[in-house]
Amino acid sequence: MPNPIFFASLSIPLFVIPLLYWAYTYPKNKYKQTNLVLYVHDNLTGDDASAMTVAGKDGPTTSIMHFGTLLAHDDPVTTTPDPESKHVARAQGMYINSQLDGKALYMIFSIMFTDGEYKGSTLEIQGADPFVLKEREFSVVSGTGYFRFVKGYGIMTTEFLDIPNLRAIIKLNITVRHF
Ligand SMILES: *[C@@H]1O[C@H](CO)[C@@H](O)[C@H](O)[C@H]1NC(C)=O
Ligand SMILES: *[C@@H]1O[C@H](CO)[C@@H](O)[C@H](O)[C@H]1NC(C)=O
Repeated sequence: MPNPIFFASLSIPLFVIPLLYWAYTYPKNKYKQTNLVLYVHDNLTGDDASAMTVAGKDGPTTSIMHFGTLLAHDDPVTTTPDPESKHVARAQGMYINSQLDGKALYMIFSIMFTDGEYKGSTLEIQGADPFVLKEREFSVVSGTGYFRFVKGYGIMTTEFLDIPNLRAIIKLNITVRHF
């Protein structure tokens, strides 16, 4: 009859080794995940306009609803849908209408944090905005400062839309992973 203690001592390394391996590698693979919900106030008309079309098939005044129109924007960003609430960032960059039937934009912009815990950092947004859909998913390709090395995605929804005056409030629900 073999000594059971002999077998017990043999089996210890069998589970200790994977445990040590896991303990050794786990902290290296661990990433942080940050969720941010932001509202972009995109007004193309009025004294408070923060976006304008700059080129298109009929020149700079071509509607953003037409294929080929390019728009530059420097939109205020808040953490609630209220445009009067504290501005925490600016969304600066461009959209170009990039679908032949005019129903989708291609967006490339930076969210430049100007206040709050991410002040001085940026997130780089890139992706398609088929704005006729309720939810549009876009990618977060990188970032700076606190967001160095980030990657992630976001869900964009239109919270408010005034088509005749081209004024909109866009909700961005962003999830990023970083080290
Ligand atoms: C954009 O337009 C809306 C609707 O007219 C207005 O209530 C809002 O204050 C404007 N947003 C900004 C940031 O000026
Ligand atoms: C944000 O999106 C995530 C999924 O990516 C979802 O679980 C969460 O409820 C959303 N939050 C808000 C405030 O919409």
